[in-house]
Amino acid sequence: MFTKQTIRDIDLTGKTVLLRADYNVPLENGKITDDYRIQKSLPTIQYLLEQNVKLIICSHLGRPTGPKDTANSLFPVAKRLQQLLDRPVEFSTDCVGEPAQKAAAGLKNGHVLLLENLRFHPEEEANDVDFAKQLANLAEVFVQDGFGVVHRAHASTEGVTHFLPAVAGLLLEKEVDTITNVMLQPQRPLMTIVGGAKIADKIEVLHRFIEIADFVAVGGAMANTFLAAQGIKIGESLYDKADIPLAKAILRKAGGEAKKRPFVFAVPHDVVVADEIDKTGTTRIVDFSSHAIADIENYPKRVPAAASHVHADEMILDIGPFSGSFIAGGIQLANTVIWNGTMGVTETNGLQGPIGPYAHGTELIIEALLGDFGHKPFTVVGGGDTVGYVESRNLVGCFGHVSTGGGASLELMGGRKLPGVEALLGRK
Ligand code: 3PG
Repeated sequence: MFTKQTIRDIDLTGKTVLLRADYNVPLENGKITDDYRIQKSLPTIQYLLEQNVKLIICSHLGRPTGPKDTANSLFPVAKRLQQLLDRPVEFSTDCVGEPAQKAAAGLKNGHVLLLENLRFHPEEEANDVDFAKQLANLAEVFVQDGFGVVHRAHASTEGVTHFLPAVAGLLLEKEVDTITNVMLQPQRPLMTIVGGAKIADKIEVLHRFIEIADFVAVGGAMANTFLAAQGIKIGESLYDKADIPLAKAILRKAGGEAKKRPFVFAVPHDVVVADEIDKTGTTRIVDFSSHAIADIENYPKRVPAAASHVHADEMILDIGPFSGSFIAGGIQLANTVIWNGTMGVTETNGLQGPIGPYAHGTELIIEALLGDFGHKPFTVVGGGDTVGYVESRNLVGCFGHVSTGGGASLELMGGRKLPGVEALLGRK
């Protein structure tokens, strides 16, 4: 249950509103390649415009090195927003100072203004008080709707709330509500599928998932570290040596959980390997099924020396068909699935093009999640790469909830407080 006040709880009629969005969208040569975050901000903007507000929107984009970093300008976002809203969107070349003050002063009710990238000023990330005050001075009310950035305590997420009444937008409310509900009161069985590169990035969430889920499956490069932790040779595969102790601790915890209750922790039993990451590369399947998977008690004794193995010059680039089917089977039993991280390298896909050679594991899981095998669980999809992939396949509308937050959704799932949410006014 969302405990903060939202735009529905206060009277905004005719007011000047500063809306924090997360328009950190991917750009290629000044063109937006994925506008999901902009699309998801529209219901809040439309609601605010129905209240006849003067609307000033601010956001960051990327991690710019300074104001001259024009590749990170939000100007393309202003143009896209204008198309989507079908009304003029003014643009201020700076988010504070004279340009912003002038543009804000000239706004009429029902007008929209987008400010230039907040991170062109280092004071934004430093949560500088004067900078926050300057932002706050532009408006009468602050609305936080940038879910993707509420895990940061920056001037536009935390600092500004000291100077203006601060409430949540509709996207923020929906994200926090949906994610909190699947973590606290999921329709069981609950399955979590976790991919991505580094265990360290997802350590909190992995621990939490082991505590609350019925089935946890790992894939992606992070699975390589689990395989290496079990003494399996992984050739040139991407993995993180420093994460091996974390991997062992997680396997131990998973093993302990499985002794207490019906619980599965699945590390790939087979993988797709190649000696280069190439769209047309030749692939091979390596089957570790004679190995003890996730059997940390017997680690590393049960790893046979002469089993099928990854050659020294090969890389693991996807989960294999057996592992994919095993996870897909788990999905058939689950009523709720939390999915964060692709199962293999998906970047070799053309945007609309054919499936890349290392995306079959991810595709099989998508088919299962979308009910192609008969049962469709409620699925929450999170993480920048995963959402990007689902977007590239035009499948965003097919899942229960596709989060706009990467780090923010992981921190929320990991049980952390989000400074940008904490700072908002509480429900009375
Ligand atoms: C994101 O893309 O995760 C958010 O916009 C936050 O960006 P950041 O990681 O650069 O703070």
